[in-house]
Amino acid sequence: MLKPGKEEIQFVFPAHWYAVEWSDKLKKKPVKKRIAGKGMVLFRGENETAHAISPCCPHRGAALSLRLCSDGGVRCAYHGWLFQEDGICTDIPAHPDRPVPDFALVTCYPVLERAELI
Ligand code: FES
Repeated sequence: MLKPGKEEIQFVFPAHWYAVEWSDKLKKKPVKKRIAGKGMVLFRGENETAHAISPCCPHRGAALSLRLCSDGGVRCAYHGWLFQEDGICTDIPAHPDRPVPDFALVTCYPVLERAELI
């Protein structure tokens, strides 16, 4: 049997499901993970549902895992932009009356919680 090279591993693995965290370990603090070469942040949104989004804020690149979850999403620790489970920014505290710019979104990933695993 042939061993896959590094390129094949990166191509194959993202298309699978992974157990990435125990359910009881994900609380109010977002959890930073690296899965199949991609960074992501796990958090609990509305109704305590688990979600995963990319780990860097599109504004200035701050880590989205630095602050507690709030308002149903993850609020960036730097300027306070709020990202919801679908990756869309819904609040920019410095400009509450301006529309949210198109680039203010992060990638979101499908998440299931089964058998006490995320
Ligand atoms: S770096 Fe995240 S809101 Fe500015």
